[in-house]
Amino acid sequence: MSAHSGAAPGGHGPAREATPEELSRRGFLTKISLAAAAGVAGLIGVPIVGYLLGPLLQPTEQQWRSVGMVDEFAIGQTALVSFEEPSPLKWAGQTALTAAYLRREDTDSFVAFAVNCTHLGCPVNWQPDARIFLCPCHGGVYYANGDVAAGPPPHPLFRYDTRVNDGRVEIRTRPLPVA
Ligand code: FES
Repeated sequence: MSAHSGAAPGGHGPAREATPEELSRRGFLTKISLAAAAGVAGLIGVPIVGYLLGPLLQPTEQQWRSVGMVDEFAIGQTALVSFEEPSPLKWAGQTALTAAYLRREDTDSFVAFAVNCTHLGCPVNWQPDARIFLCPCHGGVYYANGDVAAGPPPHPLFRYDTRVNDGRVEIRTRPLPVA
């Protein structure tokens, strides 16, 4: 005769099946535990997700950004300038910087083009001798005024508003349209 016959594992007496009341109580306690865990996860998780995604859902502000003194730019010349986007993302760092091509047309008249090709967004290059913008990705070509000269771009280069304020050239930031 076996010494383990009829004993529960661990030596706590004979095993017996749980009664329907005990099963029901266990099920209830399990559900309570799961509900409590879900509640705690929600309490912790919702603020974190809100913190991370909230700035992405806010409308982007438009702001005037200085890109230099008026006298830094020669009339008729096109220069690459950089400025900070009004990004609400605190962790954006260097990625908050963007660029534009700025051309001084007259004494206090400037035009600014986004650097992004309207085909798939590659940065275009200004070719001063030919007076065209070239896109290195798929051969898009733009005239000096931003109009499409050749290749796949569907639209002229996007423009930013510009103004002269207290001797400085300013560009008004804006989200660029998705081509
Ligand atoms: Fe410029 Fe395609 S991204 S031509």
